[in-house]
Amino acid sequence: MPTLRELLAARLRDALAASGHDAARADVSQAGDVRFGDYQANAAMVLAKEKKANPRELAGEILSHIDVSGLAAKPELAGAGFINFRLENSFLSEALSHLAADSRLGVDVVARPRKILVDFSSPNVAKPMHVGHIRSTILGDCLVRVARFLGHEVIADNHIGDWGTQFGKVIYGWKHFLDRDALGKNAITELVRLYREVTRLEETDDVIKRTAREELVKLQAGDPENLAIWKETVELSWGEFQKLYDLLDIRFDERLGESAYNDALAPLCATLERQGIATTSEGALCIFFPGIPTLEDKPAIIRKSDGGFLYATTDLATIDYRIAHWHPEAIWYVVGSPQALHFQQIFAAAKMMGVECDLKHIAFGSILGEDRKIMKTRSGENVGLSEVLHEAIERARRVIAARADALSPDEAESTAHLIGLGAVKYAELSQNRLTDYVFSWDKLLSFEGNTAPYLQNAYVRIRSIFRRAEEPANASAPILLNEPAERALGLKLLQYAETIPVMLEELRPNILANYLYELANTYHSFYEACPVIKADPASRASRLLLSDMTARTLSHGLGLLGIGCPDRM
Ligand code: ARG
Repeated sequence: MPTLRELLAARLRDALAASGHDAARADVSQAGDVRFGDYQANAAMVLAKEKKANPRELAGEILSHIDVSGLAAKPELAGAGFINFRLENSFLSEALSHLAADSRLGVDVVARPRKILVDFSSPNVAKPMHVGHIRSTILGDCLVRVARFLGHEVIADNHIGDWGTQFGKVIYGWKHFLDRDALGKNAITELVRLYREVTRLEETDDVIKRTAREELVKLQAGDPENLAIWKETVELSWGEFQKLYDLLDIRFDERLGESAYNDALAPLCATLERQGIATTSEGALCIFFPGIPTLEDKPAIIRKSDGGFLYATTDLATIDYRIAHWHPEAIWYVVGSPQALHFQQIFAAAKMMGVECDLKHIAFGSILGEDRKIMKTRSGENVGLSEVLHEAIERARRVIAARADALSPDEAESTAHLIGLGAVKYAELSQNRLTDYVFSWDKLLSFEGNTAPYLQNAYVRIRSIFRRAEEPANASAPILLNEPAERALGLKLLQYAETIPVMLEELRPNILANYLYELANTYHSFYEACPVIKADPASRASRLLLSDMTARTLSHGLGLLGIGCPDRM
């Protein structure tokens, strides 16, 4: 079903064509202020600027050609040349009746689905997971969910860092200081301890430093003992990662770490050299980017002078593999902003290699502690995802225990998970991903304001209305929009359909989060102004249906953010 915006744009397009103007300018957007109607178009102003004409006159001309019958009242000319639209209540009621019967809540699948590979989470084995991985994990999962819902074919690929110089230290540590008990309790913690311990010792002990490096060389040369240790560290780490993904309800279709591409690195370098794409400079094999001003003096090194390969080499081999194996039309990398240069380089190199796939770096800023510095634990270490999630659940347990609803122990526990994990995810997704945000426990677990608990609570309150009403919503009840608050809610519900595609186009989950927040607020005003259970039968049926649609939209929208809704809380 076409969205409100598309319906109005189509009428505007006809009017532009009929008055001899560029119909491509027929864009319509939601009005920022209800006093100006529901939607507005600035086409007259845009066209007037191009033609050096008077915008108000041009708007008048468009208006004399526009036909919005059956949809909206006669549009009005406002300000410098805006055209304002107010939808008719009869039209809105009917549209809401269709919406009530639509399991997709009005959201169409895209006209042209794409095959998209999303590279996200991608933590490193035996290195502390930093907050960047938390953001990547939550953002990436949300993008995967929304893209799938819109009909795209998505491959969720976890490109774990399971190969790298850290393994020299880890293997040395494993052979000399491994604590098997600790390893069994939490493998990542123990591996990170080994890594840190050896890093510390290397500072003053050259023998350890040299031996650790030899362990790395042996691993790279295929030494069976070191390979076996490496394999074990990767599998144990993956087991810990998997626990977190299970907790977060996040799944991957592919888990190919950096090591999977090892055998492809040497041949890739040879090919690039033969094709003249890579050249040797001071012993290193480099790709230069003449003609790209931002990369002019920043070649990508793909083979060091000692023969070692780099992060960029692996990423190029990965692109090769993904294209050959999956044939994606797009690859999205959900990775923090500090890697912007790396992605610019590999995308430019891929282009030189003839790759036509749409490669996109979906960057994000940092998470700050309440002191506005990069979030660290009290002892100054990176904050682990696992600690954050468990603390969130623990805090949610306390919040629930302090509330009135009496929940059974099982229900209280599952609700604490939904609230705690939801709060962490929402804190991430409700922010503009490119800006840094301050992580505040009190704020993200608050039941007031733009938070997950507030939205979950709005859902729970609607469910409790139905328990009191002792009847389900009737999807064929006529929708009455006599009160301004009923109309505002109906309009908001219909706008879900146009919010989701924009969210994906702009790759900004906060657009969806903001919509849900506004929906909850609009519902709140509706509930204050319009009695539901005590209303006359026709209004009651209509209001119950509007309430049910709100609950469905809230839980569906939160679901796209990867957040569940409890029934009670
Ligand atoms: N493991 C990397 C890191 O922690 C992120 C990998 C992102 N994906 C990629 N294809 N480079 O920084």
